[in-house]
Amino acid sequence: MLNRRETIKLGAVAGGVLLVPTGINALAEGPTVVPFSVPLKLPPVLRPVAKTPTTDIYQVDIKPADVEILPGTKTKVLTYNGEFPGPTIKAQKVRRTIVTYVNKLDTEAAVHLHGGHVPPQSDGYPTDTIKTGGVRVYLYPNEQQATTLWYHDHAHHREAEQVFRGLCGFYLISDSADRRLGLPSGDADVPLMFRDARFDSNAQLVYEHNDFRGRDTVLVNGRPQPYFQVTPKQYRFRLLNSSNDRAFRFQLSTGDDLMQIGSDGGLLPAPNVTKTVDLWPGERAEVLIDFSKYAPGTQIVLGNAYGHTDKDQQLLRFDVVTGAQDKGVVPAKLKAMPAVREAATTRDIALSLDLAAGAFTINGRQFDPNRVDFQIPVGSTEIWRITNKDTNFGIPHNLHMHLVQFRVLDRNGQPPGPAESGWKDTVTVMPGETVRIQMTFTGYTGRYVFHCHLLDHSVLSMMAQIELVGNA
Ligand code: C2O
Ligand code: CU
Ligand code: CU
Repeated sequence: MLNRRETIKLGAVAGGVLLVPTGINALAEGPTVVPFSVPLKLPPVLRPVAKTPTTDIYQVDIKPADVEILPGTKTKVLTYNGEFPGPTIKAQKVRRTIVTYVNKLDTEAAVHLHGGHVPPQSDGYPTDTIKTGGVRVYLYPNEQQATTLWYHDHAHHREAEQVFRGLCGFYLISDSADRRLGLPSGDADVPLMFRDARFDSNAQLVYEHNDFRGRDTVLVNGRPQPYFQVTPKQYRFRLLNSSNDRAFRFQLSTGDDLMQIGSDGGLLPAPNVTKTVDLWPGERAEVLIDFSKYAPGTQIVLGNAYGHTDKDQQLLRFDVVTGAQDKGVVPAKLKAMPAVREAATTRDIALSLDLAAGAFTINGRQFDPNRVDFQIPVGSTEIWRITNKDTNFGIPHNLHMHLVQFRVLDRNGQPPGPAESGWKDTVTVMPGETVRIQMTFTGYTGRYVFHCHLLDHSVLSMMAQIELVGNA
């Protein structure tokens, strides 16, 4: 299924495999859309089919659907319950979620809760797939703190294409500590999923491996360059990059600050006042934007400093409309990080392209579901020193851990910036960089994968696995 020769060819041009699309859009053939002509869509919140005192129970069909992405056209996509992106699942800390997925695709599927602390049977392990016509029940304990997670396909060697074709959605956990802060809620708490896509002249998605140059259209919650009407108050935006390979650097057209309050695993210790927020595939950031200082009629564009064309530099327009003015407050402190523990073990993780093998590797090896890369006693704390060796090709990578949230200890020996001061499950490592992370493996025994979240790399074997052993 993976064409090795094609990959090697890609390796040969890998000098162009830069951190961001190069702006060469020679392949682009999709219909053009008038910027800011379609309204932002919010994915519907999934309704439980049943509730018990401890558990919310859901049922989701994984199925193809025809949806409107580009105005006036239909695009064939893969969906959860017919929605593109999938419906948002809302969970409360400690209340359990059970989701029964029914696979109505003609390919295998596996559902992974990205960033979730979940038992191995419910983690969407790549070979724990749901066959065509099959059913699988996933249990999520929701014992972790409030945060923005997402669920997406993880079937062995299929995840890049199946996520590209639509299999992803938000999964939000709330808790009382988060609610007590009085952050914007209700219609002012808005999830925004950003991804790029390539369309043919019939408005159909074109998936090609490593095709970051061809994916010239950016979608926000499944629509190209939408507008969003906001009233003069403060909003909480939960930003997710669900692209396979593309990075975003968000900024406001006014030059005003963004107030970053959260990262992958929950709220930061304190707000990070910043002009730009970077997001690599798989990562989340929560930001506050206070529109109360703008007069109704003001238009503010959320831009992407990593873009190269009109289509990928201007992502979303906020249109301030008349409404009750309400100046937002920003708490000075959000969620303190616990003290750093003693780590018993340090491991080296090398990320590199193996040109001869036509694969991406971790410590020189390709993913093998039958090989355990590291056995780790449950409860232990480890430091991983992650190095991106791809300096001659200039290929960025990131590392995503299943099961745990980690903290970034340092980047090239320097303390991490405020954007990386909270819990993370995915960390970017640029060519030649070394990043140290620390995490504690608790809760469950069993096997969990870790991988590059540039999904066109993970399907080409940039994945490995740990096995947690002992008494959970
Ligand atoms: Cu979001 Cu193993 O991935
Ligand atoms: Cu994950
Ligand atoms: Cu990678």
